[in-house]
Amino acid sequence: MNSAVPSSRFTKSRALFARAQGSIAGGVNSGIRNMEQPVPLYFSHGQGSRLWDVDGNEYIDFQLGQGALLYGHAPAGMARAIAEQAQRGVHWAAQSELEIEVAERLQRMIPSAERVRFNSSATEVVLAAFRLSRAHTGKPLILKFEGHYHGWGDEGLVGFASPPDRWGDDEEPARLHPSAGVIREVLNQFVVARWNDADHLRRRVAQHHGRIAAIVCEPCLCNTGCIEPAPGLLATIRELCDAEGALMIADETITGFRFGSGGAQARYGVTPDLTILGKAIGGGVPFAALAGREAVFAKIIQGEVVHAGTLNANPLCLAASKWCLDTVLGQGPHHPKGLTELGRTLMRGLSDLAAQYQVPLQPQGPGLVFHTTMRKTGAETGGVHDYRDYVRRHDAPRWAHLRRCLLESGVRAIERGLWFVSLAHSATDIDEALRRAESAFARHATEWIA
Ligand SMILES: Cc1ncc(COP(=O)(O)O)c(C=O)c1O
Repeated sequence: MNSAVPSSRFTKSRALFARAQGSIAGGVNSGIRNMEQPVPLYFSHGQGSRLWDVDGNEYIDFQLGQGALLYGHAPAGMARAIAEQAQRGVHWAAQSELEIEVAERLQRMIPSAERVRFNSSATEVVLAAFRLSRAHTGKPLILKFEGHYHGWGDEGLVGFASPPDRWGDDEEPARLHPSAGVIREVLNQFVVARWNDADHLRRRVAQHHGRIAAIVCEPCLCNTGCIEPAPGLLATIRELCDAEGALMIADETITGFRFGSGGAQARYGVTPDLTILGKAIGGGVPFAALAGREAVFAKIIQGEVVHAGTLNANPLCLAASKWCLDTVLGQGPHHPKGLTELGRTLMRGLSDLAAQYQVPLQPQGPGLVFHTTMRKTGAETGGVHDYRDYVRRHDAPRWAHLRRCLLESGVRAIERGLWFVSLAHSATDIDEALRRAESAFARHATEWIA
């Protein structure tokens, strides 16, 4: 049986979800949350690596607020920092010394962050980065890669989740958008390329020679599988940007602070012109930043490019962020070694269970974040290398079934198959997660009929 029997363990979540339909459009506040099976869960509290739903079920959490909770759930120091700030004021829409303290920490941690600006979400920062790139270079086009996610705005979602019957040939990926209601002309301002094919990228850039304002990427593609850049790819992007007079934008919303205090750019040894920071910069509060070269910020500094927001540099978020950045700095130069080791142990354990129960599950990624691809029958083994390869090989319904079995065994991964590890996870958590996962694999192997 492929759809598991409705279980009584989610009674209260089911009731709340039914009630929510009467007031919240579709019952959830972000479309993706509807993906959670058998029902979008309602949570009561979290602590460290653990999360409890309203029915009292406990999870070892690897969803971690879609990666924002690098420090785990409800870290005491962060809660204190926010509470202390709240006594002094929750919002000013004006300057505070705190914003300089956070900005100076970013400069220390990320060498390319000569100047920064704050927003409340990475989606907004992406829009600012694209606008600034066009104004700075005087060129119209943004080149982005298929399957890379840059927020939910009209501009950020071009070329994300393109369906195979419309995605165009390998040489000219189509400029598709997954949402209705998008301003059509926006699509014409983009060039879409496949990830991890440097020769293809060179040809794509040559086709639009002189018209590209920026090339944007997730330096490690975490939103479709977990696909690291092929050796030399990021250097090729840098080289092409320099040759074209275009800006290189690293979207480090996921990788920032997780891949080390200097992010993925430090890990892979590349210097972008602009960096998008989100998620772990705020540890779960709505906080994000644009960072980059001072010269590139000139048009914002001079006021020619509008960058604004009532809640920008909100003091509660700044207090949280200062605590987060100090926590990363406090990890010392070896960060993210601990995260990587825990994640790799988990990946190995999942691979072993997959082999034991003959489930074609393939973990892929650097460990501190990874993805579990469920291979379709007959699909080749080995690393997934780009979006098309991922769609062709990943059996989403089968993964959804295993994910549900894991959830009901107390292990919570992201609906799409991504797993994060936090600084609050321990080796004991990983051992326990693998023990719980064993019963999930056993159940999946019994229930799943291909
Ligand atoms: C790489 C990347 N960029 C941008 C965003 C958008 O961030 P936010 O949801 O804070 O707007 C996300 C969110 O998942 C992301 O993963």
